[in-house]
Amino acid sequence: MLQKPRGTRDFLPDEMEARRTIEWRLREVARRWGYREVCTPEFEDLELFTMRSGEGIIEEMYVFEDKGGRKLALRPEITAAVIRMYINEAKVAPKPLRWCYFADCFRYERPQKGRYRQFWQFGVELIGADNAAADAEIIMLAADMLNTTGVTYDLKVGHLSFMKNLLKDLEPPVQRKVMAHLDKKDFDGLRNTLESMGKGELGNSLVSLVECRDLEKAFGIAGAIPEEERIRRTVEFLDTAGVNYALNFGIARGLDYYTGMVFEGFAQNLGAENQILGGGAYRLAHLFGGDDVASCGFAIGFDRVMVSLGDMPEKKDLIVAIVCTEEGRLHALRVAGMFRNSGIRTETDLMERGLGAQLAHASRSADFAVVIGKREAESGEVTLKNLLSGEQKTLDPQSAIAEVALHGAG
Ligand code: HAM
Repeated sequence: MLQKPRGTRDFLPDEMEARRTIEWRLREVARRWGYREVCTPEFEDLELFTMRSGEGIIEEMYVFEDKGGRKLALRPEITAAVIRMYINEAKVAPKPLRWCYFADCFRYERPQKGRYRQFWQFGVELIGADNAAADAEIIMLAADMLNTTGVTYDLKVGHLSFMKNLLKDLEPPVQRKVMAHLDKKDFDGLRNTLESMGKGELGNSLVSLVECRDLEKAFGIAGAIPEEERIRRTVEFLDTAGVNYALNFGIARGLDYYTGMVFEGFAQNLGAENQILGGGAYRLAHLFGGDDVASCGFAIGFDRVMVSLGDMPEKKDLIVAIVCTEEGRLHALRVAGMFRNSGIRTETDLMERGLGAQLAHASRSADFAVVIGKREAESGEVTLKNLLSGEQKTLDPQSAIAEVALHGAG
């Protein structure tokens, strides 16, 4: 038997219903904040992704050559594509641009629960605003979105300038090594690396910074930071808005992508793959031949949110089964159309079962049966049977629809 590719999933109707419910809640929050949906291609020139991250990222992507010999990649994320699109299509549009997306991404990762090779992100990008209010808006929006899904989470907010200031005298390759240690919380490895370079004191400062949760203390550890005023103002905005977050100056998120404020969300009930959101302020446009526009944004790992939510109550849709004899079939077809046009979920027999068998099936799968035999076909009426109470009456189709709708509303 043929199986789906490793790291991908099939979604049955119950699961799709749950996913759409959450997706629409996210869309609704995006709408309220003025973020409008954009869509970019599923694949892009490979260069779009290697430009920022180097050739190393090829290992983590689905890369292929098309018949014209072009090197392409399935998108591992959407931000780079959105900024490319901004440069191609909307460079002159009035700022700021508020955009959102719900789209699938592809990463060649080792699959496990919460980590897939095809996964969905709900993300936003705010392009062309460069101040504390913009940083704060993005974090507030992230909190609003996570709240609407119903997940319980921790939101951690940091700023790269603290770390950058401490690391500014190190060569870029050493910086990367240090960041890798910090990212893994490998403090012993970090201290060893720095001690071997005669910079043991720096190791201690870095560990204190990573463990620090207080803004004043962080300024004390990292020294003078040009962004100090902006950071203070962002924090003031977040506190005024009542956002539930904790400061964390150890958030690394790759120094080549993000430039300032960074933040991450973690589901409280998930294990290893518990990061459900990541984002921050960044600059990418200049890499793709555009002006150096400041942007910020985030992406929610939609699949992880769904894992965190677990089984959701099934959506109860009122179902009408049209049950008919052969003589009633054409009238049944018209009546089914009338029910559907009134917004009622309506199913007809396709199995050519007898009336009794259709009724038996309906009583297992529907709330109402609309019975149409020879008599109803001739009179233009229907017999409406409430499958829960057993009550049954003969009505004209519009009255039957009104009767069913009454139950739907209840
Ligand atoms: P990211 O942290 O790489 O950021 O991905 C965002 C979220 O996608 C993660 O927090 C995680 O929940 C989810 N995710 C990542 N990889 C997988 C996977 N293999 N399976 C399931 N879920 C996964 C970005 O992608 C940035 N573009 C976010 C951003 C937008 N920054 C600025 N604007």
